[in-house]
Amino acid sequence: MMADFALEVKNLCAGYEGVPVLHGISFEVKEGEIVAIVGANGAGKTTTLRTIAGLLRPTDGFVKFYGEDVTGLPAHIMVRKGLTYVPEGRRVFGKLSVKENLELGAFKEESKEVVEQRLEWVYSLFPILKERLTQKAETMSGGEQQMLAIARGLMSAPKVILLDELSLGLQPSLVEKVLQTVVEIRRHRVTVLMVEQRVLEALEIADRGYVIQSGKVVLSGMSKDLLDSDEIKRAYLGM
Ligand SMILES: Nc1ncnc2c1ncn2[C@@H]1O[C@H](COP(=O)(O)OP(=O)(O)O)[C@@H](O)[C@H]1O
Ligand SMILES: [Mg+2]
Repeated sequence: MMADFALEVKNLCAGYEGVPVLHGISFEVKEGEIVAIVGANGAGKTTTLRTIAGLLRPTDGFVKFYGEDVTGLPAHIMVRKGLTYVPEGRRVFGKLSVKENLELGAFKEESKEVVEQRLEWVYSLFPILKERLTQKAETMSGGEQQMLAIARGLMSAPKVILLDELSLGLQPSLVEKVLQTVVEIRRHRVTVLMVEQRVLEALEIADRGYVIQSGKVVLSGMSKDLLDSDEIKRAYLGM
């Protein structure tokens, strides 16, 4: 049977050392969608993604991946199932070359041929990386490192990719460019769940959005409706 959703999250609760942060988050992502979770700093966006990715155990609620209950499964299992998390702060291995960073994103037992195919695939998405193969990651610009972090995530050929705050710390001129790659990723049949503080920019590329505040979804809908809503305009767009 076909699952209704690529990702279904219901009543998700999680926190740190007994201090609750997520208070029952629910949302869905359909295959082929770009869904954005937006909200202020500290709202719980990263915690949400980390819990889905298996880096943090939920205290309540469930996560379904293509209909299968995957609640609390560890991250390495989730990656194998086809869900990859790209953390915030573009954590690339600075002393390693671009190519070495990318190869680390593929599974160890993957054949040379498959790794080569994947590399060609990510170069087609990010041509700049192909020009920098032997360059140490730390010597690249912030925007290039962010592209490398995304590309490394794609090397595991995920069905769903979780992108944490791609725009964080990037020069304004690069934000648009990096976010446009999300549209490109979806064109390559990867479903996207992204979280962003940049509400406007995120909703401009996403199909649908969820606004979270203090670990709760307070508003959701089609991106264009959210962008038109007075609440969003007032609270996040300074209008
Ligand atoms: N490792 C951690 N230990 C304790 N508290 C944390 C930790 N990470 C995040 N928090 C707290 O959880 C809340 C949500 O954080 P986070 O999910 O990172 O928000 P966002 O990504 O939306 O900025 C914040 O109050 C933050 O201080
Ligand atoms: Mg965060």
